[in-house]
Amino acid sequence: MRTVYVNGEYLPETEAKVSIFDRGFLMADGVYEVTSVLDGKLIDFEGHATRLSRSLNELEMKNPISKADLLEVHRELVRLNGVDEGLIYLQITRGSDGDRDFVYPAEDTEPTIVMFTQNKPGLADNPAAKRGARIISIEDIRWGRRDIKTVQLLYPSMGKMMAKKAGCDDAWMVQDGFVTEGTSNNAYIVKGNRIITRALSHEILHGITRAAVLRFAKEAQMEVEERNFTIEEAKEADEAFTTSASGFVMPVVEIDGASLGDGTPGRLVPRLREIYLDEMRKSAV
Ligand code: PDD
Repeated sequence: MRTVYVNGEYLPETEAKVSIFDRGFLMADGVYEVTSVLDGKLIDFEGHATRLSRSLNELEMKNPISKADLLEVHRELVRLNGVDEGLIYLQITRGSDGDRDFVYPAEDTEPTIVMFTQNKPGLADNPAAKRGARIISIEDIRWGRRDIKTVQLLYPSMGKMMAKKAGCDDAWMVQDGFVTEGTSNNAYIVKGNRIITRALSHEILHGITRAAVLRFAKEAQMEVEERNFTIEEAKEADEAFTTSASGFVMPVVEIDGASLGDGTPGRLVPRLREIYLDEMRKSAV
């Protein structure tokens, strides 16, 4: 049984409880982070902690935990649960003052903080990364502040199910004709030595993996162009991929039934995945 963290306590998962009035539950009034663990160490903890603060600020939500304590709890959960490879999920909600109301609860209402681990042996050596993902495109009908990492994940879940029903792995979302991002990852296409990905804005999550990958790509003399692209352009690309804390750099080999290149992960993307994993293992805490 897992040991989880709820509001300052480490508890067996079956004993951890949150109020039915919690605004995370009633209103999706909460933010989250997913941090990966490799070799029992945290990947890019600093990036995730910084984005968490930003998400909370944007929603005028109190941060119930200092960065130092947050690191300590992450490490303790990894230790208690013996995680070698996997994920740590963190969620902070606006809490509850014991009723349902659209108005935010009183200032002194304590946020709810919950953290748990997901053991995922083989996360780095994922067979899906060797095969590559098959993608469908769907309309992006999410809200207008996707840069805030909220727990409103119903539409992304529906997108994943649409992909599954179509016999594919994931969906890329399209707004006004241009790809925004994947259901739970940022989206990229590759032409020759050039990586093309949408620029940061309110329309997409500012991926922590994205920031690191673009930095490593430039260091490896790959070109990076931050601009919009369409599904039509993506279908004609040499390679494509997604990035996220759970998938790292994941090749995409098919978009709406069209194979990219020869239908295998290609050359640049597998190399970028390797560079990312090597570099991040070195700086893991
Ligand atoms: N998802 N875009 C969306 C919509 C996401 O949900 C995620 C992450 C990303 C990539 O962000 P990062 O590189 O910081 O993980 C982009 C996490 C992994 C999830 O919901 O499980």
